Amino acid sequence: MSGIGTNPSPSKGADVITSKAFCIIGNPIEQSLSPLMQNAAFKHVNLNYSYIAFKVPADELQGAVESMRKISIAGFNVTIPHKVEIVKLLDKLSNEAMIAGSVNTVSNENGLLVGYNTDIDGILEPIEKRISSFEGLNVLILGAGGSCRAALVGLARKKGINSISIFNRDQTKLNNVITLGRELKLNCIPFRFEDTAKLSQVSKNSGLILNTTSIGLQGEKSPIELDFIRKDAIVFDIVYKPINTDLLEKAKKTGAKIIFGYEMLLSQGYKAFEIWTGMKAPREVMKQALFGIFGEPK
Ligand SMILES: NC(=O)c1ccc[n+]([C@@H]2O[C@H](COP(=O)([O-])OP(=O)(O)OC[C@H]3O[C@@H](n4cnc5c(N)ncnc54)[C@H](OP(=O)(O)O)[C@@H]3O)[C@@H](O)[C@H]2O)c1
Repeated sequence: MSGIGTNPSPSKGADVITSKAFCIIGNPIEQSLSPLMQNAAFKHVNLNYSYIAFKVPADELQGAVESMRKISIAGFNVTIPHKVEIVKLLDKLSNEAMIAGSVNTVSNENGLLVGYNTDIDGILEPIEKRISSFEGLNVLILGAGGSCRAALVGLARKKGINSISIFNRDQTKLNNVITLGRELKLNCIPFRFEDTAKLSQVSKNSGLILNTTSIGLQGEKSPIELDFIRKDAIVFDIVYKPINTDLLEKAKKTGAKIIFGYEMLLSQGYKAFEIWTGMKAPREVMKQALFGIFGEPK
């Protein structure tokens, strides 16, 4: 067998079977759908690559990265709780990963571990499918963690956004994302998460509502009330399990357009596949791997 991760692209030499190993690290990790999606994609394009999930607790991250260097792993995804901590363990970062200060995709490029943030495209792409002009758009974001940072970097690619109101509990994290947004020349406004009256007022005025907190994961109710969601709004909940969160259910009732969390999962996965292989992601195959024969939920 040839050395893992050291051979040229197998698509160029039909008689050479190149094996490469990929993985995802995080904790918890059992629920990850990335192995399903990436393995289906590798198989479809005839790459002899495999992708598995490793549970890596926070205090074992450094050792895990060292081990992956030793086996010359070809690439890996990074999820909760490592997206920020991983940054200082890598050799190089893409420009946007550096700005976001977080990494969810690592590629072994000639022995160097290079960090990317494909959550940025993961969030922006489903939004771009629904909004052609961002001119004058008011955005409401719940949460100020890694996904909020990725959202801000993505939204900064768009011209004309009027305001981005961000609600969070932890004021230090909130201030940090506001600083990031302002550095990106976005008009970001901070709000205390507990200020429900302001939340309703801002919600009523927002054309795009984005939940980047984990509210909904355990079936919790969203603090955004149905009566304050505009029917011409776009409502995006990045929580993908359950597929229909309380926020999305409310949005559907008002007639607003919704974006499911799995759309981010898919888009960030397409981008990671493309970074690792240099090939176009087989999008339908990856989608089917998630939804099986039942198709995309509505
Ligand atoms: N669809 C996808 O592909 C995808 C990708 C990445 C993440 N996600 C999901 O998105 C969520 C956030 O991920 P992340 O990486 O951004 O996490 P993170 O960096 O840990 O940030 C989480 C944010 O959510 C807030 N939060 C958490 N629980 C809350 C609660 N009960 N009430 C109010 N605020 C709460 C936190 O507020 P404080 O600062 O006050 O603690 C923080 O701002 C996770 O549930 C994750 O599963 C989905």
